[in-house]
Amino acid sequence: MKKALITWITWQDGSYLAELLIEKWYEVHWLKRRSSSYNTERIDHIYEWPEIKNRKLILHYSDMTDSANLIKLVSEIKPDEIYNLAAQSHVWVSFEIPEYTTNCDAMGTLRLLEAIRVAWLEKTCKFYQASTSELFGWMDYNRPESWYNENSPMHPRSPYWCAKLYAMWIARNYKESYWMFCSNWILFNHESPRRWETFVTRKITMAVAKIKLWLQEKLYLWNLDAKRDWWHAKDYVEAMRLILQQDKPDDYVIATWESNTVRDFVNWSFEEVWIKLEWKWTWIDEKWYDKATWKYLVEVDPKYFRPAEVDFLLWDSSKARNVLWWNPKYSVRELCSEMVKSDIEKFRKDELLKAHGFEILNQYE
Ligand code: NAP
Ligand code: GDD
Repeated sequence: MKKALITWITWQDGSYLAELLIEKWYEVHWLKRRSSSYNTERIDHIYEWPEIKNRKLILHYSDMTDSANLIKLVSEIKPDEIYNLAAQSHVWVSFEIPEYTTNCDAMGTLRLLEAIRVAWLEKTCKFYQASTSELFGWMDYNRPESWYNENSPMHPRSPYWCAKLYAMWIARNYKESYWMFCSNWILFNHESPRRWETFVTRKITMAVAKIKLWLQEKLYLWNLDAKRDWWHAKDYVEAMRLILQQDKPDDYVIATWESNTVRDFVNWSFEEVWIKLEWKWTWIDEKWYDKATWKYLVEVDPKYFRPAEVDFLLWDSSKARNVLWWNPKYSVRELCSEMVKSDIEKFRKDELLKAHGFEILNQYE
């Protein structure tokens, strides 16, 4: 049985990856940092699986800022594969806490690589680094030939991306210097019902669900024209696993060739609950109202302004498709629909629970 160490599975990618690796008969070790509130809702169901009885999902307390602990764990577990997913991954937040972001995302990766060396696992342990598409900064809308690939020049535009750039290069450096199996996965935005609540897609789908259920009045956003290549996180975790099954380490761009605006995602999400939006310019910004009721539902709030923004990127992921035979299964509209439905379900349950207590909830389920 192969042993995998995933640095954190409490959120989106880690929880899907843990499911996938358990299905593939891995012994999965996962790291969790101490939190005063309960945050394992995305993985609790795995412990209920019948399959889990014969397989292993083992928790260890740790933190990417604690070198001694990481060395101890890697030496004890002796994993065959390490998937480094832990990060302070919110771009806007990284402008507020740049030092912590660098410590966790950049130095944390270095600590983990050193832990592999200290444990003498350089030749046996494969290392996967979750890198990001936005390392490349701007692109020229009018020049399709400027689509980014693994070799394009980089221009990170936030403390988070600067930290991720270091993490990517230190992994490349350890590959070249110590002949370690280190692969970078340069990914675009991937989303799901398990996405953290303040990323734009989840913020939109949660607001739409709450507006539909009369629990919220308006949704406040910022840059509606920003374009992203959104795809389902389930498609991306399959690519993660494939990258570590290759004979040689390498870096891969994972993207889908499709790009849509935040505005599109807002429209699709409201369409899921049969609300048709119309927009209107005021003297300062734009507002969107429900065509049927004339109520304003979406407004722009400069609070979410970022000191430096990446409006648009397009990616060439032919290498991943040709070498890994990776092809996404979900479309962006399916993703949006799944997220809205899941949020409606979630808030309905929460409201039932508040109103009638656990007895009714059990009947509902
Ligand atoms: P996420 O939802 O932000 O989850 C990040 C995980 O890192 C959480 O489980 C969090 O644990 C943990 N973490 C944060 N600070 C930590 C620390 N100091 N020590 C240990 N763990 C810490 O991220 P995601 O969307 O699943 O993405 C996974 C990885 O892919 C990240 O490295 C991200 O930068 C990268 N990535 C994601 C995307 C995307 O679109 N999703 C795109 C490109 C790259 P807590 O639960 O304790 O907070
Ligand atoms: N979060 C947020 N909240 N973003 C907004 C809002 C808002 O209210 N209004 C507009 N946006 C715009 C942002 O300015 C950005 O251009 C776009 O929506 C997407 O924002 P996020 O969902 O926060 O994602 P991101 O692209 O900045 O970063 C995500 O993807 C990166 C990979 O491309 C994160 O997952 C990063 O960790 C990841 O590296």
